[in-house]
Amino acid sequence: MTKVGVLGTGVVGQTLADRLVGLGHEVMMGARQAGNEKATAWAAAAGASASAGTFADAAGFGALIVNATAGTASLDALDAAGAENLAGKAIVDVANPLDFSAGMPPSLSVCNTDSLGEQIQRRFPDARGRQVAQHGQRRRHGAARHRPRPPHHVPVRQRRPGKQQVRSA
Ligand SMILES: NC(=O)c1ccc[n+]([C@@H]2O[C@H](COP(=O)([O-])OP(=O)(O)OC[C@H]3O[C@@H](n4cnc5c(N)ncnc54)[C@H](OP(=O)(O)O)[C@@H]3O)[C@@H](O)[C@H]2O)c1
Repeated sequence: MTKVGVLGTGVVGQTLADRLVGLGHEVMMGARQAGNEKATAWAAAAGASASAGTFADAAGFGALIVNATAGTASLDALDAAGAENLAGKAIVDVANPLDFSAGMPPSLSVCNTDSLGEQIQRRFPDARGRQVAQHGQRRRHGAARHRPRPPHHVPVRQRRPGKQQVRSA
């Protein structure tokens, strides 16, 4: 059993948190404010292995951290979680830097020569960032298609031999 801090109260955070609890892990869901309605409702429904707190509470609780916050706010959310609570821990980062400020479709707030995952790694060098899937921010825009793989690639798909590596952004 692993203690997991899930940062994010949206559909993605709740879905991942549910699955983690179902797999037997202890999960604390983090939000900006203690007593967040979605987080407390999720914890009440998810059972004894589930709890809710602030981003800092959840990051302090977890040996593993999931970043499921809005991508344009992820750095703020992780700042609130606290570098000291993230140090030495793996961050499973599923956030996409989607900017909806000009309506649909969203644009990317960071892309081409950088990625949210890399920004997180620069901001929190003592955390062990692991970016799971950021919808091909770089490939979509074609700017870095042939770049060497950065060091935070992680195998996340095991079904197709030879295709296990998911590019980070
Ligand atoms: N990788 C994938 O395949 C995939 C698929 C779908 C979505 N996503 C990504 O997963 C992430 C979560 O998506 P979602 O739809 O579940 O939730 P969301 O609405 O994108 O994000 C909700 C979370 O972001 C936090 N947040 C919002 N504004 C904030 C701010 N200004 N400062 C700090 N925190 C802030 C909220 O905090 P509070 O709880 O305090 O309100 C909440 O916990 C997004 O980045 C999305 O793009 C990834």
